[in-house]
Amino acid sequence: MEKQYLTHTAEETQKVGLEFGTFLLPGTLVCFRGDLGAGKTTFIQGILRACGARPPFVSPTFVLMKEYHLVEPTQNGIRRIYHADAYRMETAEDFEKIGFTEWCDDPEGIVLLEWPERIEALLSNTRIDITLSLKTGSDTHREIRIDKK
Ligand SMILES: Nc1ncnc2c1ncn2[C@@H]1O[C@H](COP(=O)(O)OP(=O)(O)OP(=O)(O)O)[C@@H](O)[C@H]1O
Ligand SMILES: [Mg+2]
Repeated sequence: MEKQYLTHTAEETQKVGLEFGTFLLPGTLVCFRGDLGAGKTTFIQGILRACGARPPFVSPTFVLMKEYHLVEPTQNGIRRIYHADAYRMETAEDFEKIGFTEWCDDPEGIVLLEWPERIEALLSNTRIDITLSLKTGSDTHREIRIDKK
């Protein structure tokens, strides 16, 4: 399955994330690809809102992973969200050491991963890939592609 969107503001990207987040099932790994500043974290903020996570929704670039425990599970039964960022990882093993496999194995959790390219060897085939691209000629236009395997 493949879906495509074109957004013109950060708010629109968040809104696509909000709609996408409504249908997410527990046990899902979602990988976010795209350059620095493409809008990966912005999209994820929409998912966090859709799931009722408690702000602040800060980027985990420096902390590697931020875990949200939902006060109420979502209608699909999600109770925990692992927002991870592998940008600073030298090797996939380092990310495994801090718990990546356990997050993916949580039957009541979802994993939202930025910079999956850094740890490609650890990624399961059943996952959703979301790719955000900047459009030439505009600072604020983004193309978003969602691929479900
Ligand atoms: N259409 C758009 N969609 C998303 N973000 C946009 C858009 N237009 C402008 N922006 C701006 O681009 C920036 C995107 O930043 P964001 O942190 O979401 O990127 P990122 O892909 O997570 O980057 P990084 O790789 O550094 O983590 C924000 O400052 C946002 O306001
Ligand atoms: Mg980010």
